[in-house]
Amino acid sequence: MDDHQSALFLYDEAMAFAYSAALRVAAAIGVADHLVEGPRSVDELAEATGTRPDALNRVLRALASRGIVHHHGVRGYSLAERGRALRGDSAVPAATGVLMFTDTMFWTMTHALAASVTEDKPRFERHFGRTLADYLDGDPGVDALYHEGMATVSDAENALVARACELPETGTVVDVGGRNGSLLIAALRERPRTHGILFDRAGAVETDRLEAAGLDGRWTAVEGDFFAEVPRATCSCSSASCTTGTTTSASASWTTAAAPCAREAGSWWWTRSSPRTRHRTRAGRWT
Ligand SMILES: C[S@@+](CC[C@H](N)C(=O)[O-])C[C@H]1O[C@@H](n2cnc3c(N)ncnc32)[C@H](O)[C@@H]1O
Repeated sequence: MDDHQSALFLYDEAMAFAYSAALRVAAAIGVADHLVEGPRSVDELAEATGTRPDALNRVLRALASRGIVHHHGVRGYSLAERGRALRGDSAVPAATGVLMFTDTMFWTMTHALAASVTEDKPRFERHFGRTLADYLDGDPGVDALYHEGMATVSDAENALVARACELPETGTVVDVGGRNGSLLIAALRERPRTHGILFDRAGAVETDRLEAAGLDGRWTAVEGDFFAEVPRATCSCSSASCTTGTTTSASASWTTAAAPCAREAGSWWWTRSSPRTRHRTRAGRWT
């Protein structure tokens, strides 16, 4: 690649946010649901989605360049394999996750990355005037988008993550910031001789899925603050980043008791008891 080609490549990379924006439009208007029966003209799609044909055409052309839809003639489109999960009837519907990732709480913070590499104060608090947790608590709509989006993203990757990771054969696995326990369920299914702890902040633990998963007697739910304490375990998995103290990552990570999470936080993290931590038994009682 010569300098000229490199420059063109870099400009394309720098404009990647435009593709994200186009994808956000597709998720928001549900255009994929109108492509289930096959190719449609942009005029038909615009009428079906209540959008302007020329504007929609620009969005779909951007998505075609990423292989999410295919062109059919001059102004026709079909859904490509890569775009399948945008359909509401997909086995892993992705629209809510796309809307979450492209919401201002992620978008704005991503733009602030340049400042974050030189400042140590959390940028989210500077911009939004409160922590992410307080921001979510203060807006039920954003809170629902965040957690439903996270759940759909995790549903798509949990089984793959559990299969790919070196989970212990026995012992206790704790899902840190596990919320509905979907990652813990995948881990317990992958390792039938382990016990699980679902750990999240007070009021955020949801046990419905675990109760319905047929894993009776194999798990406990614990409320607490991972900055203060995390339950002792053989292995800790998380789709919240406890090493950096942020909750922005949707990619799951796993640590053993001797891994960076425990080392950085100090061993007391794993042993110290905290009055803020409450344990819920399988029967749903708090101890
Ligand atoms: C990115 S979400 C992941 C949720 C879930 N694991 C999933 O994949 O859908 C991060 C989770 O971390 C939890 N969390 C945030 N701050 C926390 C804290 N200080 N202590 C414990 N959990 C926390 C949130 O309540 C949220 O459920």
